[in-house]
Amino acid sequence: MLSVKNICCIGAGYVGGPTMSVIADRCPKIIVNVVDINKERINSWNSKNLENLPIYEPGLSSIVRRRRGKNLFFSTNLEANIASADIIFISVNTPTKKKGLGAGQASDLKWVEKCAREVAQFSKGHTIVVEKSTLPVKTAEVIKEILEASQSSIIGKNKKSFDVLSNPEFLAEGTAIRDLEEPDRVLIGGENKEAILTLTSIYKEWVPEQKILHTNIWSSELAKITANAFLAQRISSINSIGALCEATGANVGEVARAIGSDKRIGSKFLDSGPGFGGSCFKKDILNLVYLSSYFGLTEVANYWESVVQLNDWHQKRISKLIVKKLFGTITSKKICILGFAFKANTNDTRESSAIKICKDLLEEGAILFIHDPKVTPKQIEDDLGKKEISKKFDLNQLYSLPEGNWSYSKSIYNAAKGADAIVVLTEWEEYSVINWEKIGKDMRKPSWVFDSRSILVEDRINKSGLNFWKIGDGSKNTF
Ligand code: NAD
Ligand code: UGA
Repeated sequence: MLSVKNICCIGAGYVGGPTMSVIADRCPKIIVNVVDINKERINSWNSKNLENLPIYEPGLSSIVRRRRGKNLFFSTNLEANIASADIIFISVNTPTKKKGLGAGQASDLKWVEKCAREVAQFSKGHTIVVEKSTLPVKTAEVIKEILEASQSSIIGKNKKSFDVLSNPEFLAEGTAIRDLEEPDRVLIGGENKEAILTLTSIYKEWVPEQKILHTNIWSSELAKITANAFLAQRISSINSIGALCEATGANVGEVARAIGSDKRIGSKFLDSGPGFGGSCFKKDILNLVYLSSYFGLTEVANYWESVVQLNDWHQKRISKLIVKKLFGTITSKKICILGFAFKANTNDTRESSAIKICKDLLEEGAILFIHDPKVTPKQIEDDLGKKEISKKFDLNQLYSLPEGNWSYSKSIYNAAKGADAIVVLTEWEEYSVINWEKIGKDMRKPSWVFDSRSILVEDRINKSGLNFWKIGDGSKNTF
């Protein structure tokens, strides 16, 4: 078993950054280099002010403060850091392909392939290459082929050698540090026992050995996308039942509690919300759909595709419902949006339900005032594909602003001033302690509060003279 002195992670994103920070923290004798082609991102990782790290994740900045410059380094120098590494983690993005074969379903592996070529070019001696990115089954084969082909014409002591392992990451954003420090399991798939044990030796520094699972490489790759598919399937299931609750007078929270008490079902991942977002659920399920179709398993592909279809339908259902409640038109009405991130405790907006719901509301002509404690106006602008309206207007002009526009609000209370409706889309803690009496006075009547996350207390809102809608609550008879 190799004694690991130096590791390199290619990709300083939502996985690479937190994962390597925790490894550096738990293994102070190992030098951890995180490299990325994105200079701006690396500069942010190196920024003196820890508020400016590119990723917001509770607990991350204190680890970076402890380890950066000691055994944790962020750099754009791929060549030197690949050359000195005993183990290289590939942690780059693997989004759904936009064009060509498999477009709309298969993962685009061009970044992974590029990494494999860079490792082939710059590495020295023997290197363990670890797939940290979520990859379709059999990708390890591609990486291996690229690495081996690079050595086919080399003979003697200059010939490099490689082992390829799969070590998928199961962290969830917002709880990444806790998930990494106390994982349910660490999964390592591979063929070479010695390489597996070498990687295991790193995790053994803080993870109990019985939680480190060894499988063959294909099981490991497939287990990762299957885990995400099962989690997403639970959300689509509960959201489908939520719609039925609204139609029948049942309450989705009560149904979830009742079914979740059954140990075989379990209580986690049964919160009905505005639909699942995040960079991975949709991408990984579509990948599973592609894989199933590729192997001629049409029924399997259709089954998993329906999880995504239900999610799309559910997001549309929410925007339609808002329009319906506001007398069938929201043209030039002010709507306050609380939360743009795809979940609380992250600044990530990738595939956030807020993007689709806001786009629908803008399309209907609404004027949106968007608040999120961690998402920047620039990010919202990129996601909505629309520039923010100039801030130079007063409240009297509010209802004559050009329709279908948006503005960023630092304050929840300013965002709600004069609004016809408030829509909660992310479950940020601060939204559950809003002073409704104060807000109620400032909204245009009749006004609505739409709680897509079930975090608000209905009584307080009703007492403030506001109408209230909560996801999956049939006592309001939505239909
Ligand atoms: P990300 O987009 O945040 O980060 C990827 C980084 O890789 C980017 O900074 C990009 O510049 C860099 N990169 C791309 N090609 C490169 C190259 N050739 N050399 C150097 N750097 C390069 O993505 P992410 O959210 O960290 O996800 C990475 C992988 O991990 C994906 O496969 C994803 O499915 C998987 N994953 C993500 C999460 C999550 O919570 N985000 C959790 C588990 C697994
Ligand atoms: C998810 C998985 O939970 C991680 O295990 C996995 O590593 C990761 O994807 C990945 O591969 O990227 P993440 O997307 O960060 O993590 O966050 P989740 O907590 O899973 O939430 C995903 C979406 O589902 C969010 O929009 C969230 O609001 C929604 N959700 C979650 C619900 O609507 N209801 C729930 O009960 C739980």
